[in-house]
Amino acid sequence: MQNALVVDGLIRKLWITESTTYCDHLLRLDRDSRYSRFGSAVADDFIREYVDATYRLNAVGHGFFVNGELRGAAELRPLGPALTREAEAALSIETPWQSHGVGSELLDRTLLAARNRGIKTLHMACLANNRRMQELARKFTAELSFDFGSVAGEVAAARPTPLSVLREFVADGHGFATAVLDVQSRLFRPV
Ligand SMILES: CC(C)(COP(=O)(O)OP(=O)(O)OC[C@H]1O[C@@H](n2cnc3c(N)ncnc32)[C@H](O)[C@@H]1OP(=O)(O)O)[C@@H](O)C(=O)NCCC(=O)NCCS
Repeated sequence: MQNALVVDGLIRKLWITESTTYCDHLLRLDRDSRYSRFGSAVADDFIREYVDATYRLNAVGHGFFVNGELRGAAELRPLGPALTREAEAALSIETPWQSHGVGSELLDRTLLAARNRGIKTLHMACLANNRRMQELARKFTAELSFDFGSVAGEVAAARPTPLSVLREFVADGHGFATAVLDVQSRLFRPV
């Protein structure tokens, strides 16, 4: 589903300097979304420490920005030592932007990043009653098989192809160019 909320938005990789932006987004999640994202009712301090830890790992993050504000994010965290074949993926969309296709777009980018990094098994911690996340995962059954009991997904195409690398490169190039425009448009906006 596409609508004005999403058309106005921009999806791009998160930068290493954007840990505060990511943390602020997670802190803005309402109670239910925070519960679904972390699997329990976590405190603000937990989220701050979680983001610190995420940025220390070699995580790949994608963000959904609206007017320069991060409203949705997906992270791909390697599990274990360098060159691991396992990773964990997690998504968070702020409530007004849920059910507008943002999660689908972010998961698509995350799966592409996983594939290009040789990730074979992707874990997603998802509560059994999280229908929307389950529906979302089902849309990617060609690439991913899910078992919500053990919450593990297997990325079917373990090997990157020149085309999959190119797709990520093109997505990054587009994201970067649009991000620069986004900053410029804010710089030039009359106050
Ligand atoms: C779960 C979450 C990531 C899904 O992202 P989203 O942007 O809301 O989902 P999408 O709009 O891409 O919808 C994906 C699919 O879910 C289904 N869906 C959408 N809204 C739904 C709703 N209200 N109820 C049930 N299913 C729904 C649809 O099948 C949809 O696909 P379609 O539009 O092509 O038919 C997001 O809602 C979220 O961040 N929730 C809170 C945190 C969370 O649960 N994180 C997951 C733990 S890792």
